[in-house]
Amino acid sequence: MPPQYRQAGPDNPSRKVITHVCGIVGYAGAHPALPFLLEGLERLEYRGYDSAGVALVESEGVYVEKAAGRLSSLVAVVDKSRPAHVGIGHTRWATHGPPTDDNAHPHTDCAGRVAAIHNGIIENYRELRAELEKSGHVFSSETDTEVIPHLLEAGEGHSLGERALYARGRLEGAYAFLAVSADEPDAVVAVRQASPLVLGLGDTGNYLASDITALLPYTREVMILDNGEMAVVTGRGVEIRDAAGLVVDRTASHIEWTTEEASRGGYPHFMLKEIMEQPDAWADCLRGRIGADGAVILEELGLRPGDLERVLRVQLIAAGTAYHACLMAQRWLEEWARVPVRVDVASEFRYQHPILSPGTVVVAVSQSGETADTLASVALAKDAGFPVWAVTNVVGSTLAREVHRVLYTRAGPEVSVCSTKAYTTQLLVLALLADALADVHRPEPRSSVIPHLQSLPALGAAWLRERRDLGASVARVAAAPSVFYIGRGLDYAVALEGQLKLKEISYIHAEAYPAGELKHGTLALIEPGVPVVAVATSAALMPKVRSNIMEVRARGGSVLAVVPESLADEMQDLADAIITIPATDERVAPVLAALPLQLLAYDVATALDRDVDKPRNLAKSVTVE
Ligand code: F6R
Repeated sequence: MPPQYRQAGPDNPSRKVITHVCGIVGYAGAHPALPFLLEGLERLEYRGYDSAGVALVESEGVYVEKAAGRLSSLVAVVDKSRPAHVGIGHTRWATHGPPTDDNAHPHTDCAGRVAAIHNGIIENYRELRAELEKSGHVFSSETDTEVIPHLLEAGEGHSLGERALYARGRLEGAYAFLAVSADEPDAVVAVRQASPLVLGLGDTGNYLASDITALLPYTREVMILDNGEMAVVTGRGVEIRDAAGLVVDRTASHIEWTTEEASRGGYPHFMLKEIMEQPDAWADCLRGRIGADGAVILEELGLRPGDLERVLRVQLIAAGTAYHACLMAQRWLEEWARVPVRVDVASEFRYQHPILSPGTVVVAVSQSGETADTLASVALAKDAGFPVWAVTNVVGSTLAREVHRVLYTRAGPEVSVCSTKAYTTQLLVLALLADALADVHRPEPRSSVIPHLQSLPALGAAWLRERRDLGASVARVAAAPSVFYIGRGLDYAVALEGQLKLKEISYIHAEAYPAGELKHGTLALIEPGVPVVAVATSAALMPKVRSNIMEVRARGGSVLAVVPESLADEMQDLADAIITIPATDERVAPVLAALPLQLLAYDVATALDRDVDKPRNLAKSVTVE
């Protein structure tokens, strides 16, 4: 394939601009709004962001200041003498689209009298923008957000609340927005549609935020907006209306969390928070990437007819957890699309004089987009003239800038060093890629994996809600000097990830093997009490895995089986403990199997009182060789 791919960047109109996991704050009350807005944004900094902005309501218009980069850049330019008592503020973490001043929120209408900030994805923003531009609205950013102030402007003559209800009816997607207008200088309106939004009730004013953390120093009395609800917040009070426009009677809840707990969403560690966030991250990751006909849409690849047909080989490159995601993807790509795939650890690839044959697409996978070995491997592949795509979580990362095309994982900022949601969203993006390639390389009818991918967020959320107690298994693993993980096929790939999680945060030695490989040497290490985690999600491979488990049991090994509910009976007589995951299609079941493996590592590490979020000797971005 000739290297005809254009650099991902602002000049590429085909890319989808998406901002989510942004920080939102708002205030209406007796005090000047700016100090709260800036402090609230500072309290949301832990979420990660790449630009920030505020809007203050003044009678002659709305004062807006915004800046790419750190909050300090905004603080340096904002006019701190502004006395406005109503305002909104935003930190943007772009998961797709450049973090520039223009793209930073708030965005305004044509007259500069309405300003809005938003968290989430407006799926129909292209259609809305085209419609609004046709009727004379002028846009000044590339964001999906900017349709909101223009929709509000279109409802001129009506109250801001009515205009917000109108906008809510027009917007599709998962989002939360706040808006202010110079025509109603005492109010902030808020709409929630699947992205979080909290109201805080204070003695001298009322607050809004995407996250309770921002509010805690000011109030502990909060109301959570439900999906489809709209609120008008003034210094005097709060009025909430439901999806039908009827006033909702909501009582406030008292929040006991410490500020530190709140910054982790109430969880004791970022890792647990990030594990629990996975179903939402999966939904975000899939959003807009599957058409009504079930076909995969990877707009960001800017593909032209025939491009995917010309992909004859795929070379995957990554490190650590991302490498494990690639090993799963290799099986999907080869099985579904019958396209040969090679996977290399980046630190090896760069020095092994790789042979890349014509028709190869190189795909580099990296959460941070800053891993030195991955970047060096990408440079090598580019120099050799091959198209290079990236799967990454960080917009504007070096990797994203270096490659020809980027698929973002949209997992939101991952703070814990131990990767969880970035890994599973890498799996989803790679599964979509495999399905897209399968469509052109194996056009014969096959059972689609897409509905099963789409059902993962609900299945994962249900499983995490119940948060299975791993009880005795945790104690057994925590007491062991060494733990083995086994699996076959896709389960081997996820077993590798499971053992890495355990190793890095509990400091217990762990190794993963293809289940059939144990007897070729490692079985010598299995003696009474040695824990073996067996992942078995495939009915077809179950008899084989059962035999391997018997080999372990015969040596006294203690087996913890991770199986779908539908296969649990197969393990009753064999395993010492069984963790079930929801029954689903075998092709995607290992994505769900990652959840108990992550939680096992987490529970063991906390039982051992380890520094879960910052394990010793490890860094979040490995920018050195
Ligand atoms: C483990 C982990 C690491 C990273 C590896 C590559 O939990 O996070 O193994 O996966 O250092 O990092 P990225 O994905 O940023 O290239």
